[in-house]
Amino acid sequence: MAEDLEVSKGSKEEQYQSLLPQIEGLLTGENNQIANLANITAALKEQFNFFWVGFYLVDTENELVLGPFQGPIACTRIRKGRGVCGGAWSQEKTLIVPDVEKFPGHIACSSLSKSEIVLPLYKQGKIIGVLDVDSNQLNSFDEIDEKYLSQVLKLLDN
Ligand code: SME
Repeated sequence: MAEDLEVSKGSKEEQYQSLLPQIEGLLTGENNQIANLANITAALKEQFNFFWVGFYLVDTENELVLGPFQGPIACTRIRKGRGVCGGAWSQEKTLIVPDVEKFPGHIACSSLSKSEIVLPLYKQGKIIGVLDVDSNQLNSFDEIDEKYLSQVLKLLDN
């Protein structure tokens, strides 16, 4: 049985620094991907109260399918190259979107989502999905989120 998450206060960087070893602990000894992705979304939601945080996983050559997430119901399928998630997948890079209304092709699963970061998820050098984090405020994400969220994702690459 997992311990309760210790939710920390302080700067965003301090919050990530306190969260990262806890997520590492959560994943230790568990190889089931769904379980691990689910706990990562729960831990991120609990620490940061993000509007939406979740994974889209590569399902076919051209399509992502919704994976474990926390937040309101969401679109289930995203084509390669479409929206922020499909873009991060096809370009294999992190996309930070300060204002989703200014991102051509943004897929609005909720009109309340205002800014977004999407990072590729790799397993043994192959992209297997993306992590999508949405905020109901503009300009919520920067290189600090990119740095620490990519460290979280590296914990899954084994
Ligand atoms: N906005 C995303 C779609 C997923 S939802 O935000 C949960 C996109 O444009 O890819």
